[in-house]
Amino acid sequence: MKEVRVGIVGLGNVGLGTLAILSENADQIATKLGFRLRVAALCSRSIASKDIPASLRDVFKTPDWRQVVEHPEVDIVAELVGGTGVAREILDAAIARGKSVVTANKELMALCGAEIWDRAIRAKINLAMEASVAGGIPIHAVLREGISGDRITALYGILNGTSNYILTEIERHGASFDSMLAEAQRLGYAEPDPSADIDGYDARAKLAILSALAFGEKITPSDIYTEGIRRIQPIDFQYAHQLHHTIRQICAARQTPDGLILSVRPSLIPQSTILAGVQGAYNAVWVRGHYGADTFYYGRGAGPNPTGVAVVSDLMRVAREIRSGSPERVSPFAHERLGEYKPISITLQRSAYYLRFRVQDRPGIIAKLAGALADQQISLDAVLQLPSENWRDLPFVITVEPATEQSVRDAIAQMASLNFLLEPPLAMPMERSL
Ligand SMILES: NC(=O)c1ccc[n+]([C@@H]2O[C@H](COP(=O)([O-])OP(=O)(O)OC[C@H]3O[C@@H](n4cnc5c(N)ncnc54)[C@H](OP(=O)(O)O)[C@@H]3O)[C@@H](O)[C@H]2O)c1
Repeated sequence: MKEVRVGIVGLGNVGLGTLAILSENADQIATKLGFRLRVAALCSRSIASKDIPASLRDVFKTPDWRQVVEHPEVDIVAELVGGTGVAREILDAAIARGKSVVTANKELMALCGAEIWDRAIRAKINLAMEASVAGGIPIHAVLREGISGDRITALYGILNGTSNYILTEIERHGASFDSMLAEAQRLGYAEPDPSADIDGYDARAKLAILSALAFGEKITPSDIYTEGIRRIQPIDFQYAHQLHHTIRQICAARQTPDGLILSVRPSLIPQSTILAGVQGAYNAVWVRGHYGADTFYYGRGAGPNPTGVAVVSDLMRVAREIRSGSPERVSPFAHERLGEYKPISITLQRSAYYLRFRVQDRPGIIAKLAGALADQQISLDAVLQLPSENWRDLPFVITVEPATEQSVRDAIAQMASLNFLLEPPLAMPMERSL
């Protein structure tokens, strides 16, 4: 049977991982497919210095991505460059030439996935993007195929390995956020500029893609309320543990009677929930369906090999589709906002909240804070204060009964005038449905 030929653009972490698997696992891939998946062209800016597997040394190599896209022997282009600049040009050029595309690019797909899919469908080419979210977890296939017959009501995820590594290390060692971030950078888990990870933007792009797939709705990153983990301190874990909870950066998309509420933010989750067991750089996705109830997916969220497996599996799927003629293609991104799953503001969310204060201690503090909460009709649940000698910087916590995000924000705004507060209160939702 005739082979299908692949051109790879971008030989960094994911590209080299993909190449190693395509080379080492070539025979088994051919057995599973019934034909060979052959690497026909390779491109990277510094291609001359790349460590190419021996079996692929004679493959056509170039630093110019256009030569891969235009190569007559390339049937599928794998875009493993990243970003929204050159990557977009590569995808556009490949689609224009009728070549199928595999991409690992969450940033680009979150921003303009719907548009790219539309172009791909019109050009009758195949597009796959499994590696773009949660590297080693085949969550696209789950949402597009495995449980696509269900009506999804909620999706929760831990989708950024760097944030999860930092939080679980703070929890384990009681060390500061800054020292755990430095450790993550030393180990290569965090970039020199860690903002995309620790401020939640990377997770936001992934949640935009997953919720589009899960709910069949057009979702963009700007629909998602996003908050990073910079303010989380070891003391927050101590208080969370007292409440039989822990803290994770939770990506959430849940249906309410009014629409879909989407957020990426540090949250308190019960220690008993399966998500609390997600440690280090692992990712997890929990999907709740109206008919099929709860399913849970867990695995490595990044790294050359897990992500490489996702890219290679996508290449195999697209190769199969090319061989079978794959007559019908449907975009995983819906085109219209139908209403039922229309994104609505986070301010409408109702939840119990954890409020952590740092104050200069003096009499009457609790009464003043309770007054601001009462003004917004928010009921106190508990007041927690661990022993401390330092009256000049005293941390303590108030938990409140379910209230709207808006009322909590209004109460916090009202507290801004209280001169005993050393910083604005830290508010985190307590996820009781997990
Ligand atoms: N890293 C992960 O674990 C992971 C997980 C899931 C998804 N992803 C996604 O996978 C994609 C790639 O990530 P990565 O970590 O592999 O990035 P990376 O290590 O920075 O690799 C990017 C590669 O693209 C090449 N490149 C950049 N501009 C180019 C151009 N104009 N022409 C040709 N080649 C160019 C670079 O070339 P040179 O090396 O020659 O300079 C480099 O080899 C991104 O979309 C990322 O979000 C990554």
